[in-house]
This record gives sequence, structure tokens and C-alpha cells, in this order.
Amino acid sequence: MALRVVVTRRVPDPALELLAHSGVGLWVSPQDRPLEASELRAAVAGADAVITLLHDRVDAALLAAAGPQLRCVCNVAVGYDNIDVPACSSRGVLVTNTPGVLTDATADLAIGLILAVTRRLGEGERLLRAREPWRWHMFFMLGASLQGKTLGIVGLGGIGAATARRARAFGMDIVYSGRRRAATELEASLGGARYLELDELLESSDVVSLHCPLTAETRHLIDAGRLALMKPSAYLVNTARGPIVDEAALADALRAGTIHGAALDVFEHEPDVHPGLLELDNVVLVPHLGSATIETRTAMAVLAARNALAMLRGEEPLTPVNPAALAAPAPS
Ligand code: GLV
Repeated sequence: MALRVVVTRRVPDPALELLAHSGVGLWVSPQDRPLEASELRAAVAGADAVITLLHDRVDAALLAAAGPQLRCVCNVAVGYDNIDVPACSSRGVLVTNTPGVLTDATADLAIGLILAVTRRLGEGERLLRAREPWRWHMFFMLGASLQGKTLGIVGLGGIGAATARRARAFGMDIVYSGRRRAATELEASLGGARYLELDELLESSDVVSLHCPLTAETRHLIDAGRLALMKPSAYLVNTARGPIVDEAALADALRAGTIHGAALDVFEHEPDVHPGLLELDNVVLVPHLGSATIETRTAMAVLAARNALAMLRGEEPLTPVNPAALAAPAPS
């Protein structure tokens, strides 16, 4: 019988064609929405590989519903906080993600958000669309320049470094924090980027851009206390994962002038946005668009499909998250 691949929601055609032409038994959810947990459990029953999206929760119950033949969960995202990786590992299920292919798109968006919030683009657009009367004058809607300012990158991985590289072209100096210091070559290529403890980075940056994964350690990494460390003139940008920021504390800080502005692509309780943020003019809000280009989404889906096919053919997966799972004993 053909191996069964389940795709939990439609992905770009080149990925589906790759799977369909490989001779696997392919099931793609016909729903134009995330599947409910019970629907997801029913869909994955008997699957050898599951291709998931970032809104799908993969936990022990889902793995049990899939059955012991399940070999891999291939997430179409670089982040995999939706997946219980230890539960997968203990069942010998490989998890893959899609690093690399979305680095440029996400860094582009981070820079777009930095420009949008510092130059008040959303506010200006809203003003015109509201048909408010306006006249140019010397002090009209002034923002902040980036040249000579300091960008604090929290998490200098691929996307953080790509954002920093772009920011150098705008004349920004780079500081960064993270689990460890980057290679000196990378620091040098970013104009002498300096490694700082997070609190020091928050105190000294004019713009703080978040690029760390969501983990137990980074949940609410930016809370009321940390926001209070930032300069009153500073901006916070989040293109990583919503729960890294305490959204209620951010709304309070923006309202109170603790920081000057923020730009968010991701939200703590996605797709909901904290109502306090929706009322504020000094925050730019976009709906999780980091990787949202045709080219990038296609590349992500194709990479996930190639990971699934590699696993089903007994080949090396391209971008494994838990390679040790392959050595784990199958569940009894
Ligand atoms: C998008 O948010 C991703 O993790 O790929």
C-alpha cells in the first residue's frame, strides 16, 4: 500500500505536485481554515508523514492518533513551537522545519516595520484614509531617523543577522544578545556588532528587534520590567513569535510613553490582537506576514515536502530539528 502523506492545509502547488508525482497516497485538507484538534486527529490517522502549518498543535494525543507508523512531522515554518518535539523524539518521529528559505523575506519585513514605525507610515495612511484635513508644515508627523542609531537584535541567528545586515545599509550600529556570542567574523561583517546582556541591550538600543525562537525561556522575555529598561524614545519590533512579548504590558508601556512605539507582525494570542494595541497610534500592526511572499511560501512548502519524501525513502532529511529521534527506539 502506498505510504500516506497528510497535508493539514493547502500549500503552494509545486509542493503538492512534488508529493503527488512521487507515488505517495496524498491527502490535503479541503478546508480553507486550520483544522480543529479533533479533525486533525482524524486526518492524521494512519499517516506516514504529516506536513503541518504553524497553527497546528502537534502533541502526544495527535501522535497517538496518527499511529506507530508515523515517521515525520514536517512543519512549513522555521519556528516549531507548535510541536511538542520531546514527544515526537520519544516516539522516534522526526520533526523538520524550514530554515534558510524565509530568512530574506522575514528580514525584509523586519526592516519594513522599523521604517513604518519610525516614519509613522501607518499613522499617515490612516490620517489620509480618514479624509482628515492636513497641510504640510515643518513639524508635521515627524518621526525618527535611523542613521547613527543603535539596533538591538535579540537572537542573532539567520534572520537576526540578515536584519542587522540590512540595517547597516541604513547607517545603524548593531548590538545583539542571545544564548551565546556570535563568531567574530559575523560581528566584524556587521560593522563590529557588540554582544550585550539583554538588559544592557534594552537600555542602550534605539530600536529593539526580536528574532529569538519561542521557548519556555523566551515566553514573556519582554515584560513590563524589561520594557521599563528601554529608552522612552525607543521602538520595539517583533517578527518572531507573539508570546515573547507580554502584550498587555506592551500596550500599557505604549500608552504611558515608557517606549515611543512598536511594530508587531506576530501576536500573543494569534489571530487576536490585544484590544489596547488596536486603540494606539504608535504601534504598527500587520498579520503575521514575515514569510508572506509567493517565492518564499513556495520554497518553504517545497522544502517541507522534500523533507517528508526523504524520510519516506529512507534518505537523510534536509533540515531536521531532532535528528537523534531517528536513533530512538520505536514505541512498543
Ligand atoms: C513563520 O512564522 C515561521 O516560523 O516560519
